[in-house]
Amino acid sequence: MDKENLSALIEAASAQLQHSYAPYSDFKVGAALLAQDGKIYTGCNIENAAYTPTNCAERTAFFKAVSEGVRDFQAICVVGGPGGKMEDYTPPCGVCRQVMMEFCDPERFEIILAKDNGDCAIYKLKDLMPMGFGLSH
Ligand code: THU
Repeated sequence: MDKENLSALIEAASAQLQHSYAPYSDFKVGAALLAQDGKIYTGCNIENAAYTPTNCAERTAFFKAVSEGVRDFQAICVVGGPGGKMEDYTPPCGVCRQVMMEFCDPERFEIILAKDNGDCAIYKLKDLMPMGFGLSH
């Protein structure tokens, strides 16, 4: 991950916080997904009064990309927190990790977590989803 892509992803994910629809939890999440061709697909969490239809920011980004015919990805950046304050890392939930397993090589795909103080942590999907169930099964 070069510096240019890294800062573009953090900026795009952070900008998504303003679109987060989280009236029930007030936990706002933004994501920015980098496709193999360099294009960025963004997403936010979208909650629902019935709770279970809620969609996470990561899946919003993935589904936007896949619905446009894009299936090859390099990395995703996830940011958020209570009230949209990025004071801590927001790691992807298990369901989102499973969606990543469907479209990404766990050995290569990178998950970037960032805070507003400039800290960021980068993980490989294989480390956040050990022994994950995927296409090879
Ligand atoms: N959320 C995400 O958007 N991504 C995650 O990976 C973790 C959780 C959202 C779902 C819900 O709207 C809120 O955060 C609180 O769980």
